[in-house]
Amino acid sequence: MLILGIDTSCDDTCVSVIEIKNQKSKIKSFDIFSDIISSQVKLHAKYGGVYPFLAKREHQRNLPLVFRQATKRIKPSEIDLIGVTNGPGLEPCLWQGVNFARELAEKLDKPLIPINHIEAHILANWLQIQNIKYKIQDTFPAICLVVSGGHTQLILMRDVGKYKLIGETRDDAAGECFDKVARILGLGYPGGPIIAAYAAMKLKVKSKKLKVCLPRPMIYQKNYDFSFSGLKTAVLYDFRNQPPKLRKSKEYIRAICREVQQAIIDVLIHKTLRAAKNFKTKSVILGGGVAANEKLRKQFESTINSQLLNVKFLVPAKNFCTDNAAMVAATVYFHQKEATKNWKKIKVDANLHI
Ligand code: KG4
Ligand code: ZN
Repeated sequence: MLILGIDTSCDDTCVSVIEIKNQKSKIKSFDIFSDIISSQVKLHAKYGGVYPFLAKREHQRNLPLVFRQATKRIKPSEIDLIGVTNGPGLEPCLWQGVNFARELAEKLDKPLIPINHIEAHILANWLQIQNIKYKIQDTFPAICLVVSGGHTQLILMRDVGKYKLIGETRDDAAGECFDKVARILGLGYPGGPIIAAYAAMKLKVKSKKLKVCLPRPMIYQKNYDFSFSGLKTAVLYDFRNQPPKLRKSKEYIRAICREVQQAIIDVLIHKTLRAAKNFKTKSVILGGGVAANEKLRKQFESTINSQLLNVKFLVPAKNFCTDNAAMVAATVYFHQKEATKNWKKIKVDANLHI
C-alpha cells in the first residue's frame, strides 16, 4: 500500500510517500520512499518568527515542485491513500495543503484523510518501529509529551486514536520560548538549534564564575501545565542588566543559552515523569521539534532509566521530530477507515484538538 502525506501547517512545505509492507502478516513496517521538505527558514529569519501570509505564498509556489520530487520514483496513480494535515497550525498555510490535497485526490480519484498534526508528531515514533502490532500492545498506556513551536502538551494515550489531554502550556510553547530567547539574544531563527549549539560550546574557566540563574516555572505545581513566557522575560531582564560589553560576549551567550536550555529541560522532564508515575504508564513518548534537542533526549533517557523501572522511552529520529510529511503518511495508515472520496468535506481547523 502506498500512502502520500502532505503537511503545510507552519513554514515547511512537506510531502512524503511511504509504503506499508507485509500487509497480511502481523509484522508490518513503513518503508519511506520519499520525505521532501522545502524549508522557508531563510525567508522568515529576518522577522525572527513565521510570517503567515509569506508562508502561505511560499507553500502555494512550492507544493507542486515538492510533490513532483516526492513522487519521482512512483506513478501518482499507484498511490492508494492521501493524507493532509488539516490542523492545528497557521490557517492560511493549512488551507494551501488542504486545497492541494483535495484537488489531487479528486484528479487521481483516491480517498483522502484529514490528519491532526499533534497526533502525527506522536505517531512519528512508529516510523522507526519495525513491528507495529507488537509495540502497540506493549506500549500503552503511554504518556506523550508533544513539544513544538506552537504546542507543549502532555497527553495520556491509551491506544492509537485514544488520547486525553492532561496538561499544556498556559502561554508560550517550549519551542516558542527557544525562538523568543534567540531573538532577544540576537541569534537568529529558529532559536532551538542555535541555542543548543551555543549551549554545547565549552565555557572558559573564567566564565564559569558567570552565574546565570533562571527560574523553572511551575515545576513543583501539582498539575500538568507549563508556562514559559516568564522564563523568556527572565532572560530579557538578565540580558538587559549585564554591562553592554559582557552581554555581547560569547561567554555570556554560551552561559545563558546553557541555562535556558537546562531550565526548559528540567521542567519538561519533571512534569512528564510525574505524569508517567501517577498514571502508571508503560512508556514515555516524545514528539515535536524540541524533541530533536540532543541534551533533552539524553537527559530524558537517563532519568527514565534511573527512576522508572521497565518504562520504555520512545523518541523519533531527529529528522522526524521537526515537521515532516512522513509522520502524516504514517498517521494515515492508522486512520485508513476514515478515508473519504467526499473530498470537499475536508476543512481546515486551525485550533484542532487531540
Ligand atoms: O514541530 P516543529 O518543527 O514545528 C511546529 O509544529 O511548531 O517545531 C519547531 C520548533 C521551533 O520552535 C524550534 O526552535 C524547535 O522546534 N526546535 C528545537 C530544536 N530543533 C527545533 N528546539 C530545541 N532544540 C533543537 N535542537
Ligand atoms: Zn509540528
